[in-house]
Amino acid sequence: MEPTDDDIDRFVTVLPFDRMHAARDDGRTVGGAGAFSFDLSVPGGGDVGCAGVTVVGVYPTDRRRGVLTALMRAQLDDVRARGEPLAALWASEETIYGRFGYGVAAWGVEGSVPHEYAAFVKRFDPVGSVRLVSAEEAAELLPPLYDELRRQRPGAFTRSPTWWEGRLLRDPPERRQGAGPKRFVVHETDGQPTGYAFYRHKFAYEAGVPASELIVLEAFGVTPAADHDVWRYLLDIDWSAKVKLWMLPLDHPLVLLLGTPRRPALRIGDTLWVRLVDVGAALSARAYRDGAPAVIEVRDPFCAWNEGRWKVADGAAARTDDEPDVRCDVDALGSAYLGGVTFAQLARARRVEEAREGGIVRADDLFRTDVQPWCPEIF
Ligand SMILES: CC(C)(COP(=O)(O)OP(=O)(O)OC[C@H]1O[C@@H](n2cnc3c(N)ncnc32)[C@H](O)[C@@H]1OP(=O)(O)O)[C@@H](O)C(=O)NCCC(=O)NCCS
Repeated sequence: MEPTDDDIDRFVTVLPFDRMHAARDDGRTVGGAGAFSFDLSVPGGGDVGCAGVTVVGVYPTDRRRGVLTALMRAQLDDVRARGEPLAALWASEETIYGRFGYGVAAWGVEGSVPHEYAAFVKRFDPVGSVRLVSAEEAAELLPPLYDELRRQRPGAFTRSPTWWEGRLLRDPPERRQGAGPKRFVVHETDGQPTGYAFYRHKFAYEAGVPASELIVLEAFGVTPAADHDVWRYLLDIDWSAKVKLWMLPLDHPLVLLLGTPRRPALRIGDTLWVRLVDVGAALSARAYRDGAPAVIEVRDPFCAWNEGRWKVADGAAARTDDEPDVRCDVDALGSAYLGGVTFAQLARARRVEEAREGGIVRADDLFRTDVQPWCPEIF
């Protein structure tokens, strides 16, 4: 599929040119890999510099000759030189990136809520109201609400005004895939913006009844009550046979709001993959629960500067010679980093070894988070 001018625009406006690596062979370009300059929200509400890895590809004629490996080498060295502690990506195939130290850090839920099974389990009293806004008004009102999502959830990246404009607000017809234009709504409580959604309607009528699909692209309320209102609005839009949702975090309230949670045929999949490029800086940048210190012995053959023992104590990580509590490859630490996977889960999957009795519990006591990470957008 040839990229259109619009496809190219979606990248050149936001992808720093000097972050694009090209692999060359005898004068030919045979592959490439790029990275956005993000900050990623981490447990505790802080931000960490993060390379948002994107547009990775190798020509079919040159596959399995180590081109991707060379690109990953150059890119991770560059990320390190820039002082970004993290790299993150959405993987087109789940077999590609583990070998380079990326681990699944967030899970997403997707499904379709049939219109006739869209009732909430409990009586519902709205706290605010929803109004349609233009893309221009959305440009004003949505970014601060998204920033609130980032404060509440680890795993969401910063969006510049150019990003909002080029990736989210712009709505060229060729990107609609048979659906209608993007609609933007803002939820207000006592006149203050407290939530938003954007979505499309894919119109269809079959055998005299609506067969349309309402595709929710992103929806968020800053409080649980606002979230309920936003979703009630989306689920009640007429002429929809079903409401398609995707990329919601595992603990999204919708799953428990619905009276018939089996009907959307929910599916869980991996979303964001995280790689700790600078283990010490990355571990020191997130918040921890109170607890006894934990020592993690990290194996990282691809980025050997990370190898060794790291002690997490008093909210920071430093190198240590103390005996380790747990041992793991750096990809497992990437999975645990945002709180989306526990050390206990990783140990049960034999991705983490307990090196001292009680080590898994000590590590989880520190790393555990109240909320699941959420990256609501594929980049
Ligand atoms: C995936 C892709 C980038 C791999 O590039 P490549 O240059 O062939 O990769 P390399 O030769 O460096 O392979 C490195 C290792 O990964 C393995 N590998 C690479 N791609 C793989 C895949 N899709 N499935 C399973 N293993 C894969 C290779 O077998 C090799 O393993 P080894 O070191 O044990 O021999 C390339 O096949 C491609 O462009 N695919 C289509 C686009 C795509 O999926 N891009 C990723 C976007 S997220």
